[in-house]
Amino acid sequence: MAISFKEVDHYYPGLKKHEYTVALSNINLEINDKNEFIAIIGKTGSGKSTLLQHMNGLVLPSKGNVVVFDNIITPKKKKNPKLKNVRKRVGFVFQFPEYQLFEETVLKDIMFAPKNFGLSEEKAKAKAIEIAKLLNIENLLNKSPFNLSGGQMRRVAIAGILAYDPDILLLDEPTRGLDPKGAEEIMELFYEIHKSTGKTIILISHDMNFVYKYATRLVVLNDSKISYDGNKIDLFKNNLYIENHLEKPEVLKLIDYLNDNLKTNIPYNIFSLEELISYLGKEVYNG
Ligand SMILES: Nc1ncnc2c1ncn2[C@@H]1O[C@H](COP(=O)(O)OP(=O)(O)OP(=O)(O)O)[C@@H](O)[C@H]1O
Ligand SMILES: [Mg+2]
Repeated sequence: MAISFKEVDHYYPGLKKHEYTVALSNINLEINDKNEFIAIIGKTGSGKSTLLQHMNGLVLPSKGNVVVFDNIITPKKKKNPKLKNVRKRVGFVFQFPEYQLFEETVLKDIMFAPKNFGLSEEKAKAKAIEIAKLLNIENLLNKSPFNLSGGQMRRVAIAGILAYDPDILLLDEPTRGLDPKGAEEIMELFYEIHKSTGKTIILISHDMNFVYKYATRLVVLNDSKISYDGNKIDLFKNNLYIENHLEKPEVLKLIDYLNDNLKTNIPYNIFSLEELISYLGKEVYNG
């Protein structure tokens, strides 16, 4: 098991003494290091970002412990392992990753983390160029990261994390603020990385269309607790999504409509509008 939560609570201190907010309550969770594409979903303030931040030691549990690749993270700061070891293996793409940029050029920015984790200048440069090609930002390498569009900045920041090749990728709303095409491209990119390397990806998203299309396991937070951990079909088939304040994906709304009004019997294991169109095309063609 790559990441394991044991009875974890997290409390944030409030403004007054003895006041605090419960952000996580009794979290038990097991995540494999390979082949998982997990979406963490739930309404705003339910604890998603706090949960994700525990997975690479950005915040410590208030109670219980989190094990990340054999490093046991506990509430006691002094007793904890070096978090650099954890962060090398678990990469975190923040909600607005572009705020992490700071170097003179895009190339230097992408090289920063691999160098920090021990790669030579030469190897870090080669890796940065390889990743820039993958992300289609090769032409930006000599520019200042501050003279780019929001979408380009986001790609540079993501490149900086892919460049040190973490085993697991944590993504906190990576498409937020991007236009629909940019958002789709970024999601496709993460999906490609997941498919080609088997790396586990853990994504926070409010976009149920992306979640239904890409994730294979859903973890739902409701009021700081895990209220569902399982496959995506059951969550939306059983109305469980309603009590968890979630929106139904568009493709399922359309399938419901067709099944209710045209007496079709389309299954729920169709995960995007493109897939539905292709399914309907085949059905009609086959008569
Ligand atoms: N730094 C902080 N200090 C105090 N309280 C915080 C802090 N960060 C989060 N909280 C509180 O902890 C709870 C969980 O917050 P968290 O950011 O994990 O939610 P979230 O599910 O990621 O929400 P969103 O969908 O809006 O990003 C909320 O009640 C929030 O107000
Ligand atoms: Mg959040």
